[in-house]
Amino acid sequence: MTDLPLHSSKHRESSSEVPAVSVAVVSGNAGAGSVRVEGVRKCFGPVEVLKGIDLRVAPGEVVCIIGPSGSGKSTLLRVINRLEEPDGGRVFIDDEEITGKGVDINAVRSRLGMVFQNFNLFPHMTVLANVTIALRQVKGISKAEAERIARDRLEDVGLAEKANSRPAQLSGGQQQRVAIARALAMQPELMLFDEVTSALDPELVKGVLDVMTNLAKGGMTMVVVTHEMGFARRVADRVVFMDQGKVVEAGSPEQLFDDPQSDRLKKFLAEVL
Ligand SMILES: Nc1ncnc2c1ncn2[C@@H]1O[C@H](COP(=O)(O)OP(=O)(O)OP(=O)(O)O)[C@@H](O)[C@H]1O
Ligand SMILES: [Mg+2]
Repeated sequence: MTDLPLHSSKHRESSSEVPAVSVAVVSGNAGAGSVRVEGVRKCFGPVEVLKGIDLRVAPGEVVCIIGPSGSGKSTLLRVINRLEEPDGGRVFIDDEEITGKGVDINAVRSRLGMVFQNFNLFPHMTVLANVTIALRQVKGISKAEAERIARDRLEDVGLAEKANSRPAQLSGGQQQRVAIARALAMQPELMLFDEVTSALDPELVKGVLDVMTNLAKGGMTMVVVTHEMGFARRVADRVVFMDQGKVVEAGSPEQLFDDPQSDRLKKFLAEVL
């Protein structure tokens, strides 16, 4: 999905649309989707940006990853969905190794939904077509069935009435919710989010976080890289603090935010809170 065209115009949400998201608890593959990352290393040239990462995410768990710029958060997500090959270590989804030779990368990716900072919707297609295209082309689902699924997922994110709009007619927050609906339509076992609210105007952030909160309540396994510390505190089961390619601390939101142990985390929190 990374090679979809970039489209990130920022329109204001119309006031009639707020509060937009009376989201039903979103359906997913609740109970599936555990992740196990073991000793993952990644180098770019001479620079080791992941220095032996261990991470476990249980089915239905929400793990938020925080940390300074350049600490390796995005690279870790990209290794988990095989957009990057690790130089060492292993990744398992539901106890099945997805790293290593001979693994069908497309099959792996179809089990994961990933949402990026830039929503990467096709600008020339309607919202409905954006959500159905992978269902039809990757999963080979009929047009009618794909549209039924897409409308259900758009309803989940509070955008049923935007099915026939083009991305440019939507606010950034709405476009990001379409991107989430598109990922959910594929019925992923887990969802990876990489700073999905960072490009949004502040007043649009809440609608997207509400969708993610409801997804979490619905039992979706989620790994969320975020700068939204309030969201991490409220929604995460566990928070992981990364710095310089390592997991420095991990624990409950209360442990990390109220009782940080390392100087590095204390310094980071002093800067972001
Ligand atoms: N394709 C690449 N080629 C070379 N270096 C890269 C590449 N991708 C990432 N890096 C480097 O790896 C390090 C970790 O990058 P990464 O994007 O994972 O950090 P991050 O924690 O997500 O940062 P941010 O909070 O700014 O998004 C950085 O030093 C970055 O410059
Ligand atoms: Mg990043």
